[in-house]
Amino acid sequence: MKRIPEPEELMDEADQALAYAEADFSASNEFFIQLFEQLHPAEFTGQALDLGCGPADIPIRFARRYPRAKVDALDGAQAMLDLAEKAIEADGLAQRICLHCQYLPATRLDKTYDAVLSNSLLHHLNDPQDLWSTILDNAGPGATVLVMDLLRPESPGQVDALVAQYASDAPEVLRRDFEASLYAAYTLEEVQAQLAAASLDGLTVSQVSDRHLAVQGRLG
Ligand SMILES: C[S@@+](CC[C@H](N)C(=O)[O-])C[C@H]1O[C@@H](n2cnc3c(N)ncnc32)[C@H](O)[C@@H]1O
Repeated sequence: MKRIPEPEELMDEADQALAYAEADFSASNEFFIQLFEQLHPAEFTGQALDLGCGPADIPIRFARRYPRAKVDALDGAQAMLDLAEKAIEADGLAQRICLHCQYLPATRLDKTYDAVLSNSLLHHLNDPQDLWSTILDNAGPGATVLVMDLLRPESPGQVDALVAQYASDAPEVLRRDFEASLYAAYTLEEVQAQLAAASLDGLTVSQVSDRHLAVQGRLG
């Protein structure tokens, strides 16, 4: 099935950001943390970077799971970051999660990172190299990388089935977002080719659920 890009990369409309922040992504976000635990079995005590953090549910889960970690969380949409800031303050994590309004590709932030995380950003990008080059520019030697995203289904029928299974009770705006995201997602083969083009040889891509792929590994 042909890819249909998202109409906009950023989620910068206040009502769209709020609907997203109020949705329950706890199952897939907790799954993301479990994948990181498998990839990095030791306690993580370093500096992590989350790309396309949205309302910061993943940075918050990560900071709770790893009490000695610090997280820089980056998004290009101020509407999302406003919600992220409230959530981080409500959790008392403002000392350990730092928000940055920045558009990818982000070359050379002011640190190098021990882990680079990203969930559900890749399918928003018209040029996926914006993500891979940002990782290459900002991950330190040996950094752990985990990127999770939706996997594009093979047919419109499969899209409809996933929307019915996972979003039938969701508000209309989120159902449409989920459907558009499935059409905009990349396939395993496309992501494989992106990693090869970026010479990210230490990373592998695989299907990790009925609707997700994950790129994981360590940089050399
Ligand atoms: C679907 S949300 C995912 C949010 C969060 N990672 C999560 O898992 O809940 C995608 C986020 O990526 C941000 N985004 C999209 N394109 C971007 C770009 N080029 N630079 C920075 N942020 C971007 C959007 O604004 C949005 O907040």
